[in-house]
Amino acid sequence: MEKFVINGGRRLTGEVAVSGAKNAALAIIPATVLSQDICVIENLPTSISDISYIIKALEYIGADVKLINSSTLYIDARRVNLYTIPDSITTHLRASYYFIGALLGRFGRANVAMPGGCYLGPRPIDQHIKGFELLGAKVSAEDKATVDVRCDKMRGTGIYLDVVSVGATANIMLAAVRAQGTTVIEQAAKEPHIVDLANFLNSMGADVRGAGTDVIKIRGVEHMHGCNYSIIPDQIEAGTFMVAAAATRGDVLIKNVIPKHLEPITAKLVECGAAVDENDDSVRVRLDRRPGKCNIKTMPHPGFPTDMQPQMAVLLSLADGQSVISESIWTNRFRYTEQLMRMGADITVEGRTAIINGIEQLKGASVRADDLRAGAAMIIAGLAATGKTEISDILHIDRGYEDVVGKFGELGADIRRLYCPDGSAAKAL
Ligand code: EPZ
Repeated sequence: MEKFVINGGRRLTGEVAVSGAKNAALAIIPATVLSQDICVIENLPTSISDISYIIKALEYIGADVKLINSSTLYIDARRVNLYTIPDSITTHLRASYYFIGALLGRFGRANVAMPGGCYLGPRPIDQHIKGFELLGAKVSAEDKATVDVRCDKMRGTGIYLDVVSVGATANIMLAAVRAQGTTVIEQAAKEPHIVDLANFLNSMGADVRGAGTDVIKIRGVEHMHGCNYSIIPDQIEAGTFMVAAAATRGDVLIKNVIPKHLEPITAKLVECGAAVDENDDSVRVRLDRRPGKCNIKTMPHPGFPTDMQPQMAVLLSLADGQSVISESIWTNRFRYTEQLMRMGADITVEGRTAIINGIEQLKGASVRADDLRAGAAMIIAGLAATGKTEISDILHIDRGYEDVVGKFGELGADIRRLYCPDGSAAKAL
């Protein structure tokens, strides 16, 4: 069992480079099975555990995967010969469900155990299934443990999503690129990683148009080929550093970003009194006084991302005044507030709303990372707090953030990873 131990109260200053986007990579890596060819993918966050597990899944079905350097993968999907992925792999991450669409596209058949991932409330996949069925597939998920999908000939059609879903939009795209005719996804998700997936598929010879708008049109193609591709920067990792800079009243240049993707986060930080300077591929965030309050409602892109909600709650816990956060994507994404309250935060949760009365200072405490972004919030809280913070269950953080100690350490944070054999006595790694 490992922990992060943070001695807080230091301003973050300096420069940090953001890794490639986890949630883009998690759709793009399974997409490589759509070609019987070689893909080289750059700017991947290869050291996070979600990526390790998606690679394990790819190897399980027969792909040859090699790490060319710390952020580049060579994937040869020519010998992929299985359409089954067991729960020993899928249970570790949500994105294993992208193999359903990708394998359906390659073989007309997929048998994938139900995905795991962060608990944020119920995470149904009915919209994915609706999409596959409309494409002509027979889907059976009766035992609720495995999704079995088969289709001799997928036919393009209109698919109206009842909820805006990143996963369903991506999964339907993965299958529809190989359907006969044109598929039109309406009420599609518009996240940057949906656009990145579309660009990747088009680099493999697909014909996907309109990604980044509500309507995506996919004209099926008979053949897809290999390609070289570089993944977009991680919007949420960038946002996490932006909020950490503001919460520690620091001055940080965050590099390898697409500032347009960060606009909702930038807007809220500016509302809280931070200065955010945008350059071509970097943003500089500064705050030299107590943050101001602001209200946030999470929304699908281009709204404020739910995956930045816990991190912003830390900043607002330190703000001058009362802030209200409304969570409209997930039903259970405020569990971390209990941990934050152990550090002195004044938060009342009523259903999907959190009312935060800002306090002057958080105090270090022993807290838990309930999920990936909750863990990121605990890091920011520990950095901003006085005294020592110990964060347990950091396996959740390792799912999505590369080199936490190295990156925050370079910015002047006092953060260490400790090994605790019995869960308490910490030994340096
Ligand atoms: C993706 O999850 C991300 N994960 C999540 O990030 C992120 O929080 C979420 O999108 C929203 O932005 C990955 O990309 C791997 P959804 P996903 O389908 O695709 C409902 C992180 O921290 N819904 O867009 O699973 C669902 O219950 C993770 O990096 C249905 O009702 O999310 C939710 O209320 C956590 N039926 C809403 O739609 C469905 O079939 C949005 O979910 C699918 C979804």
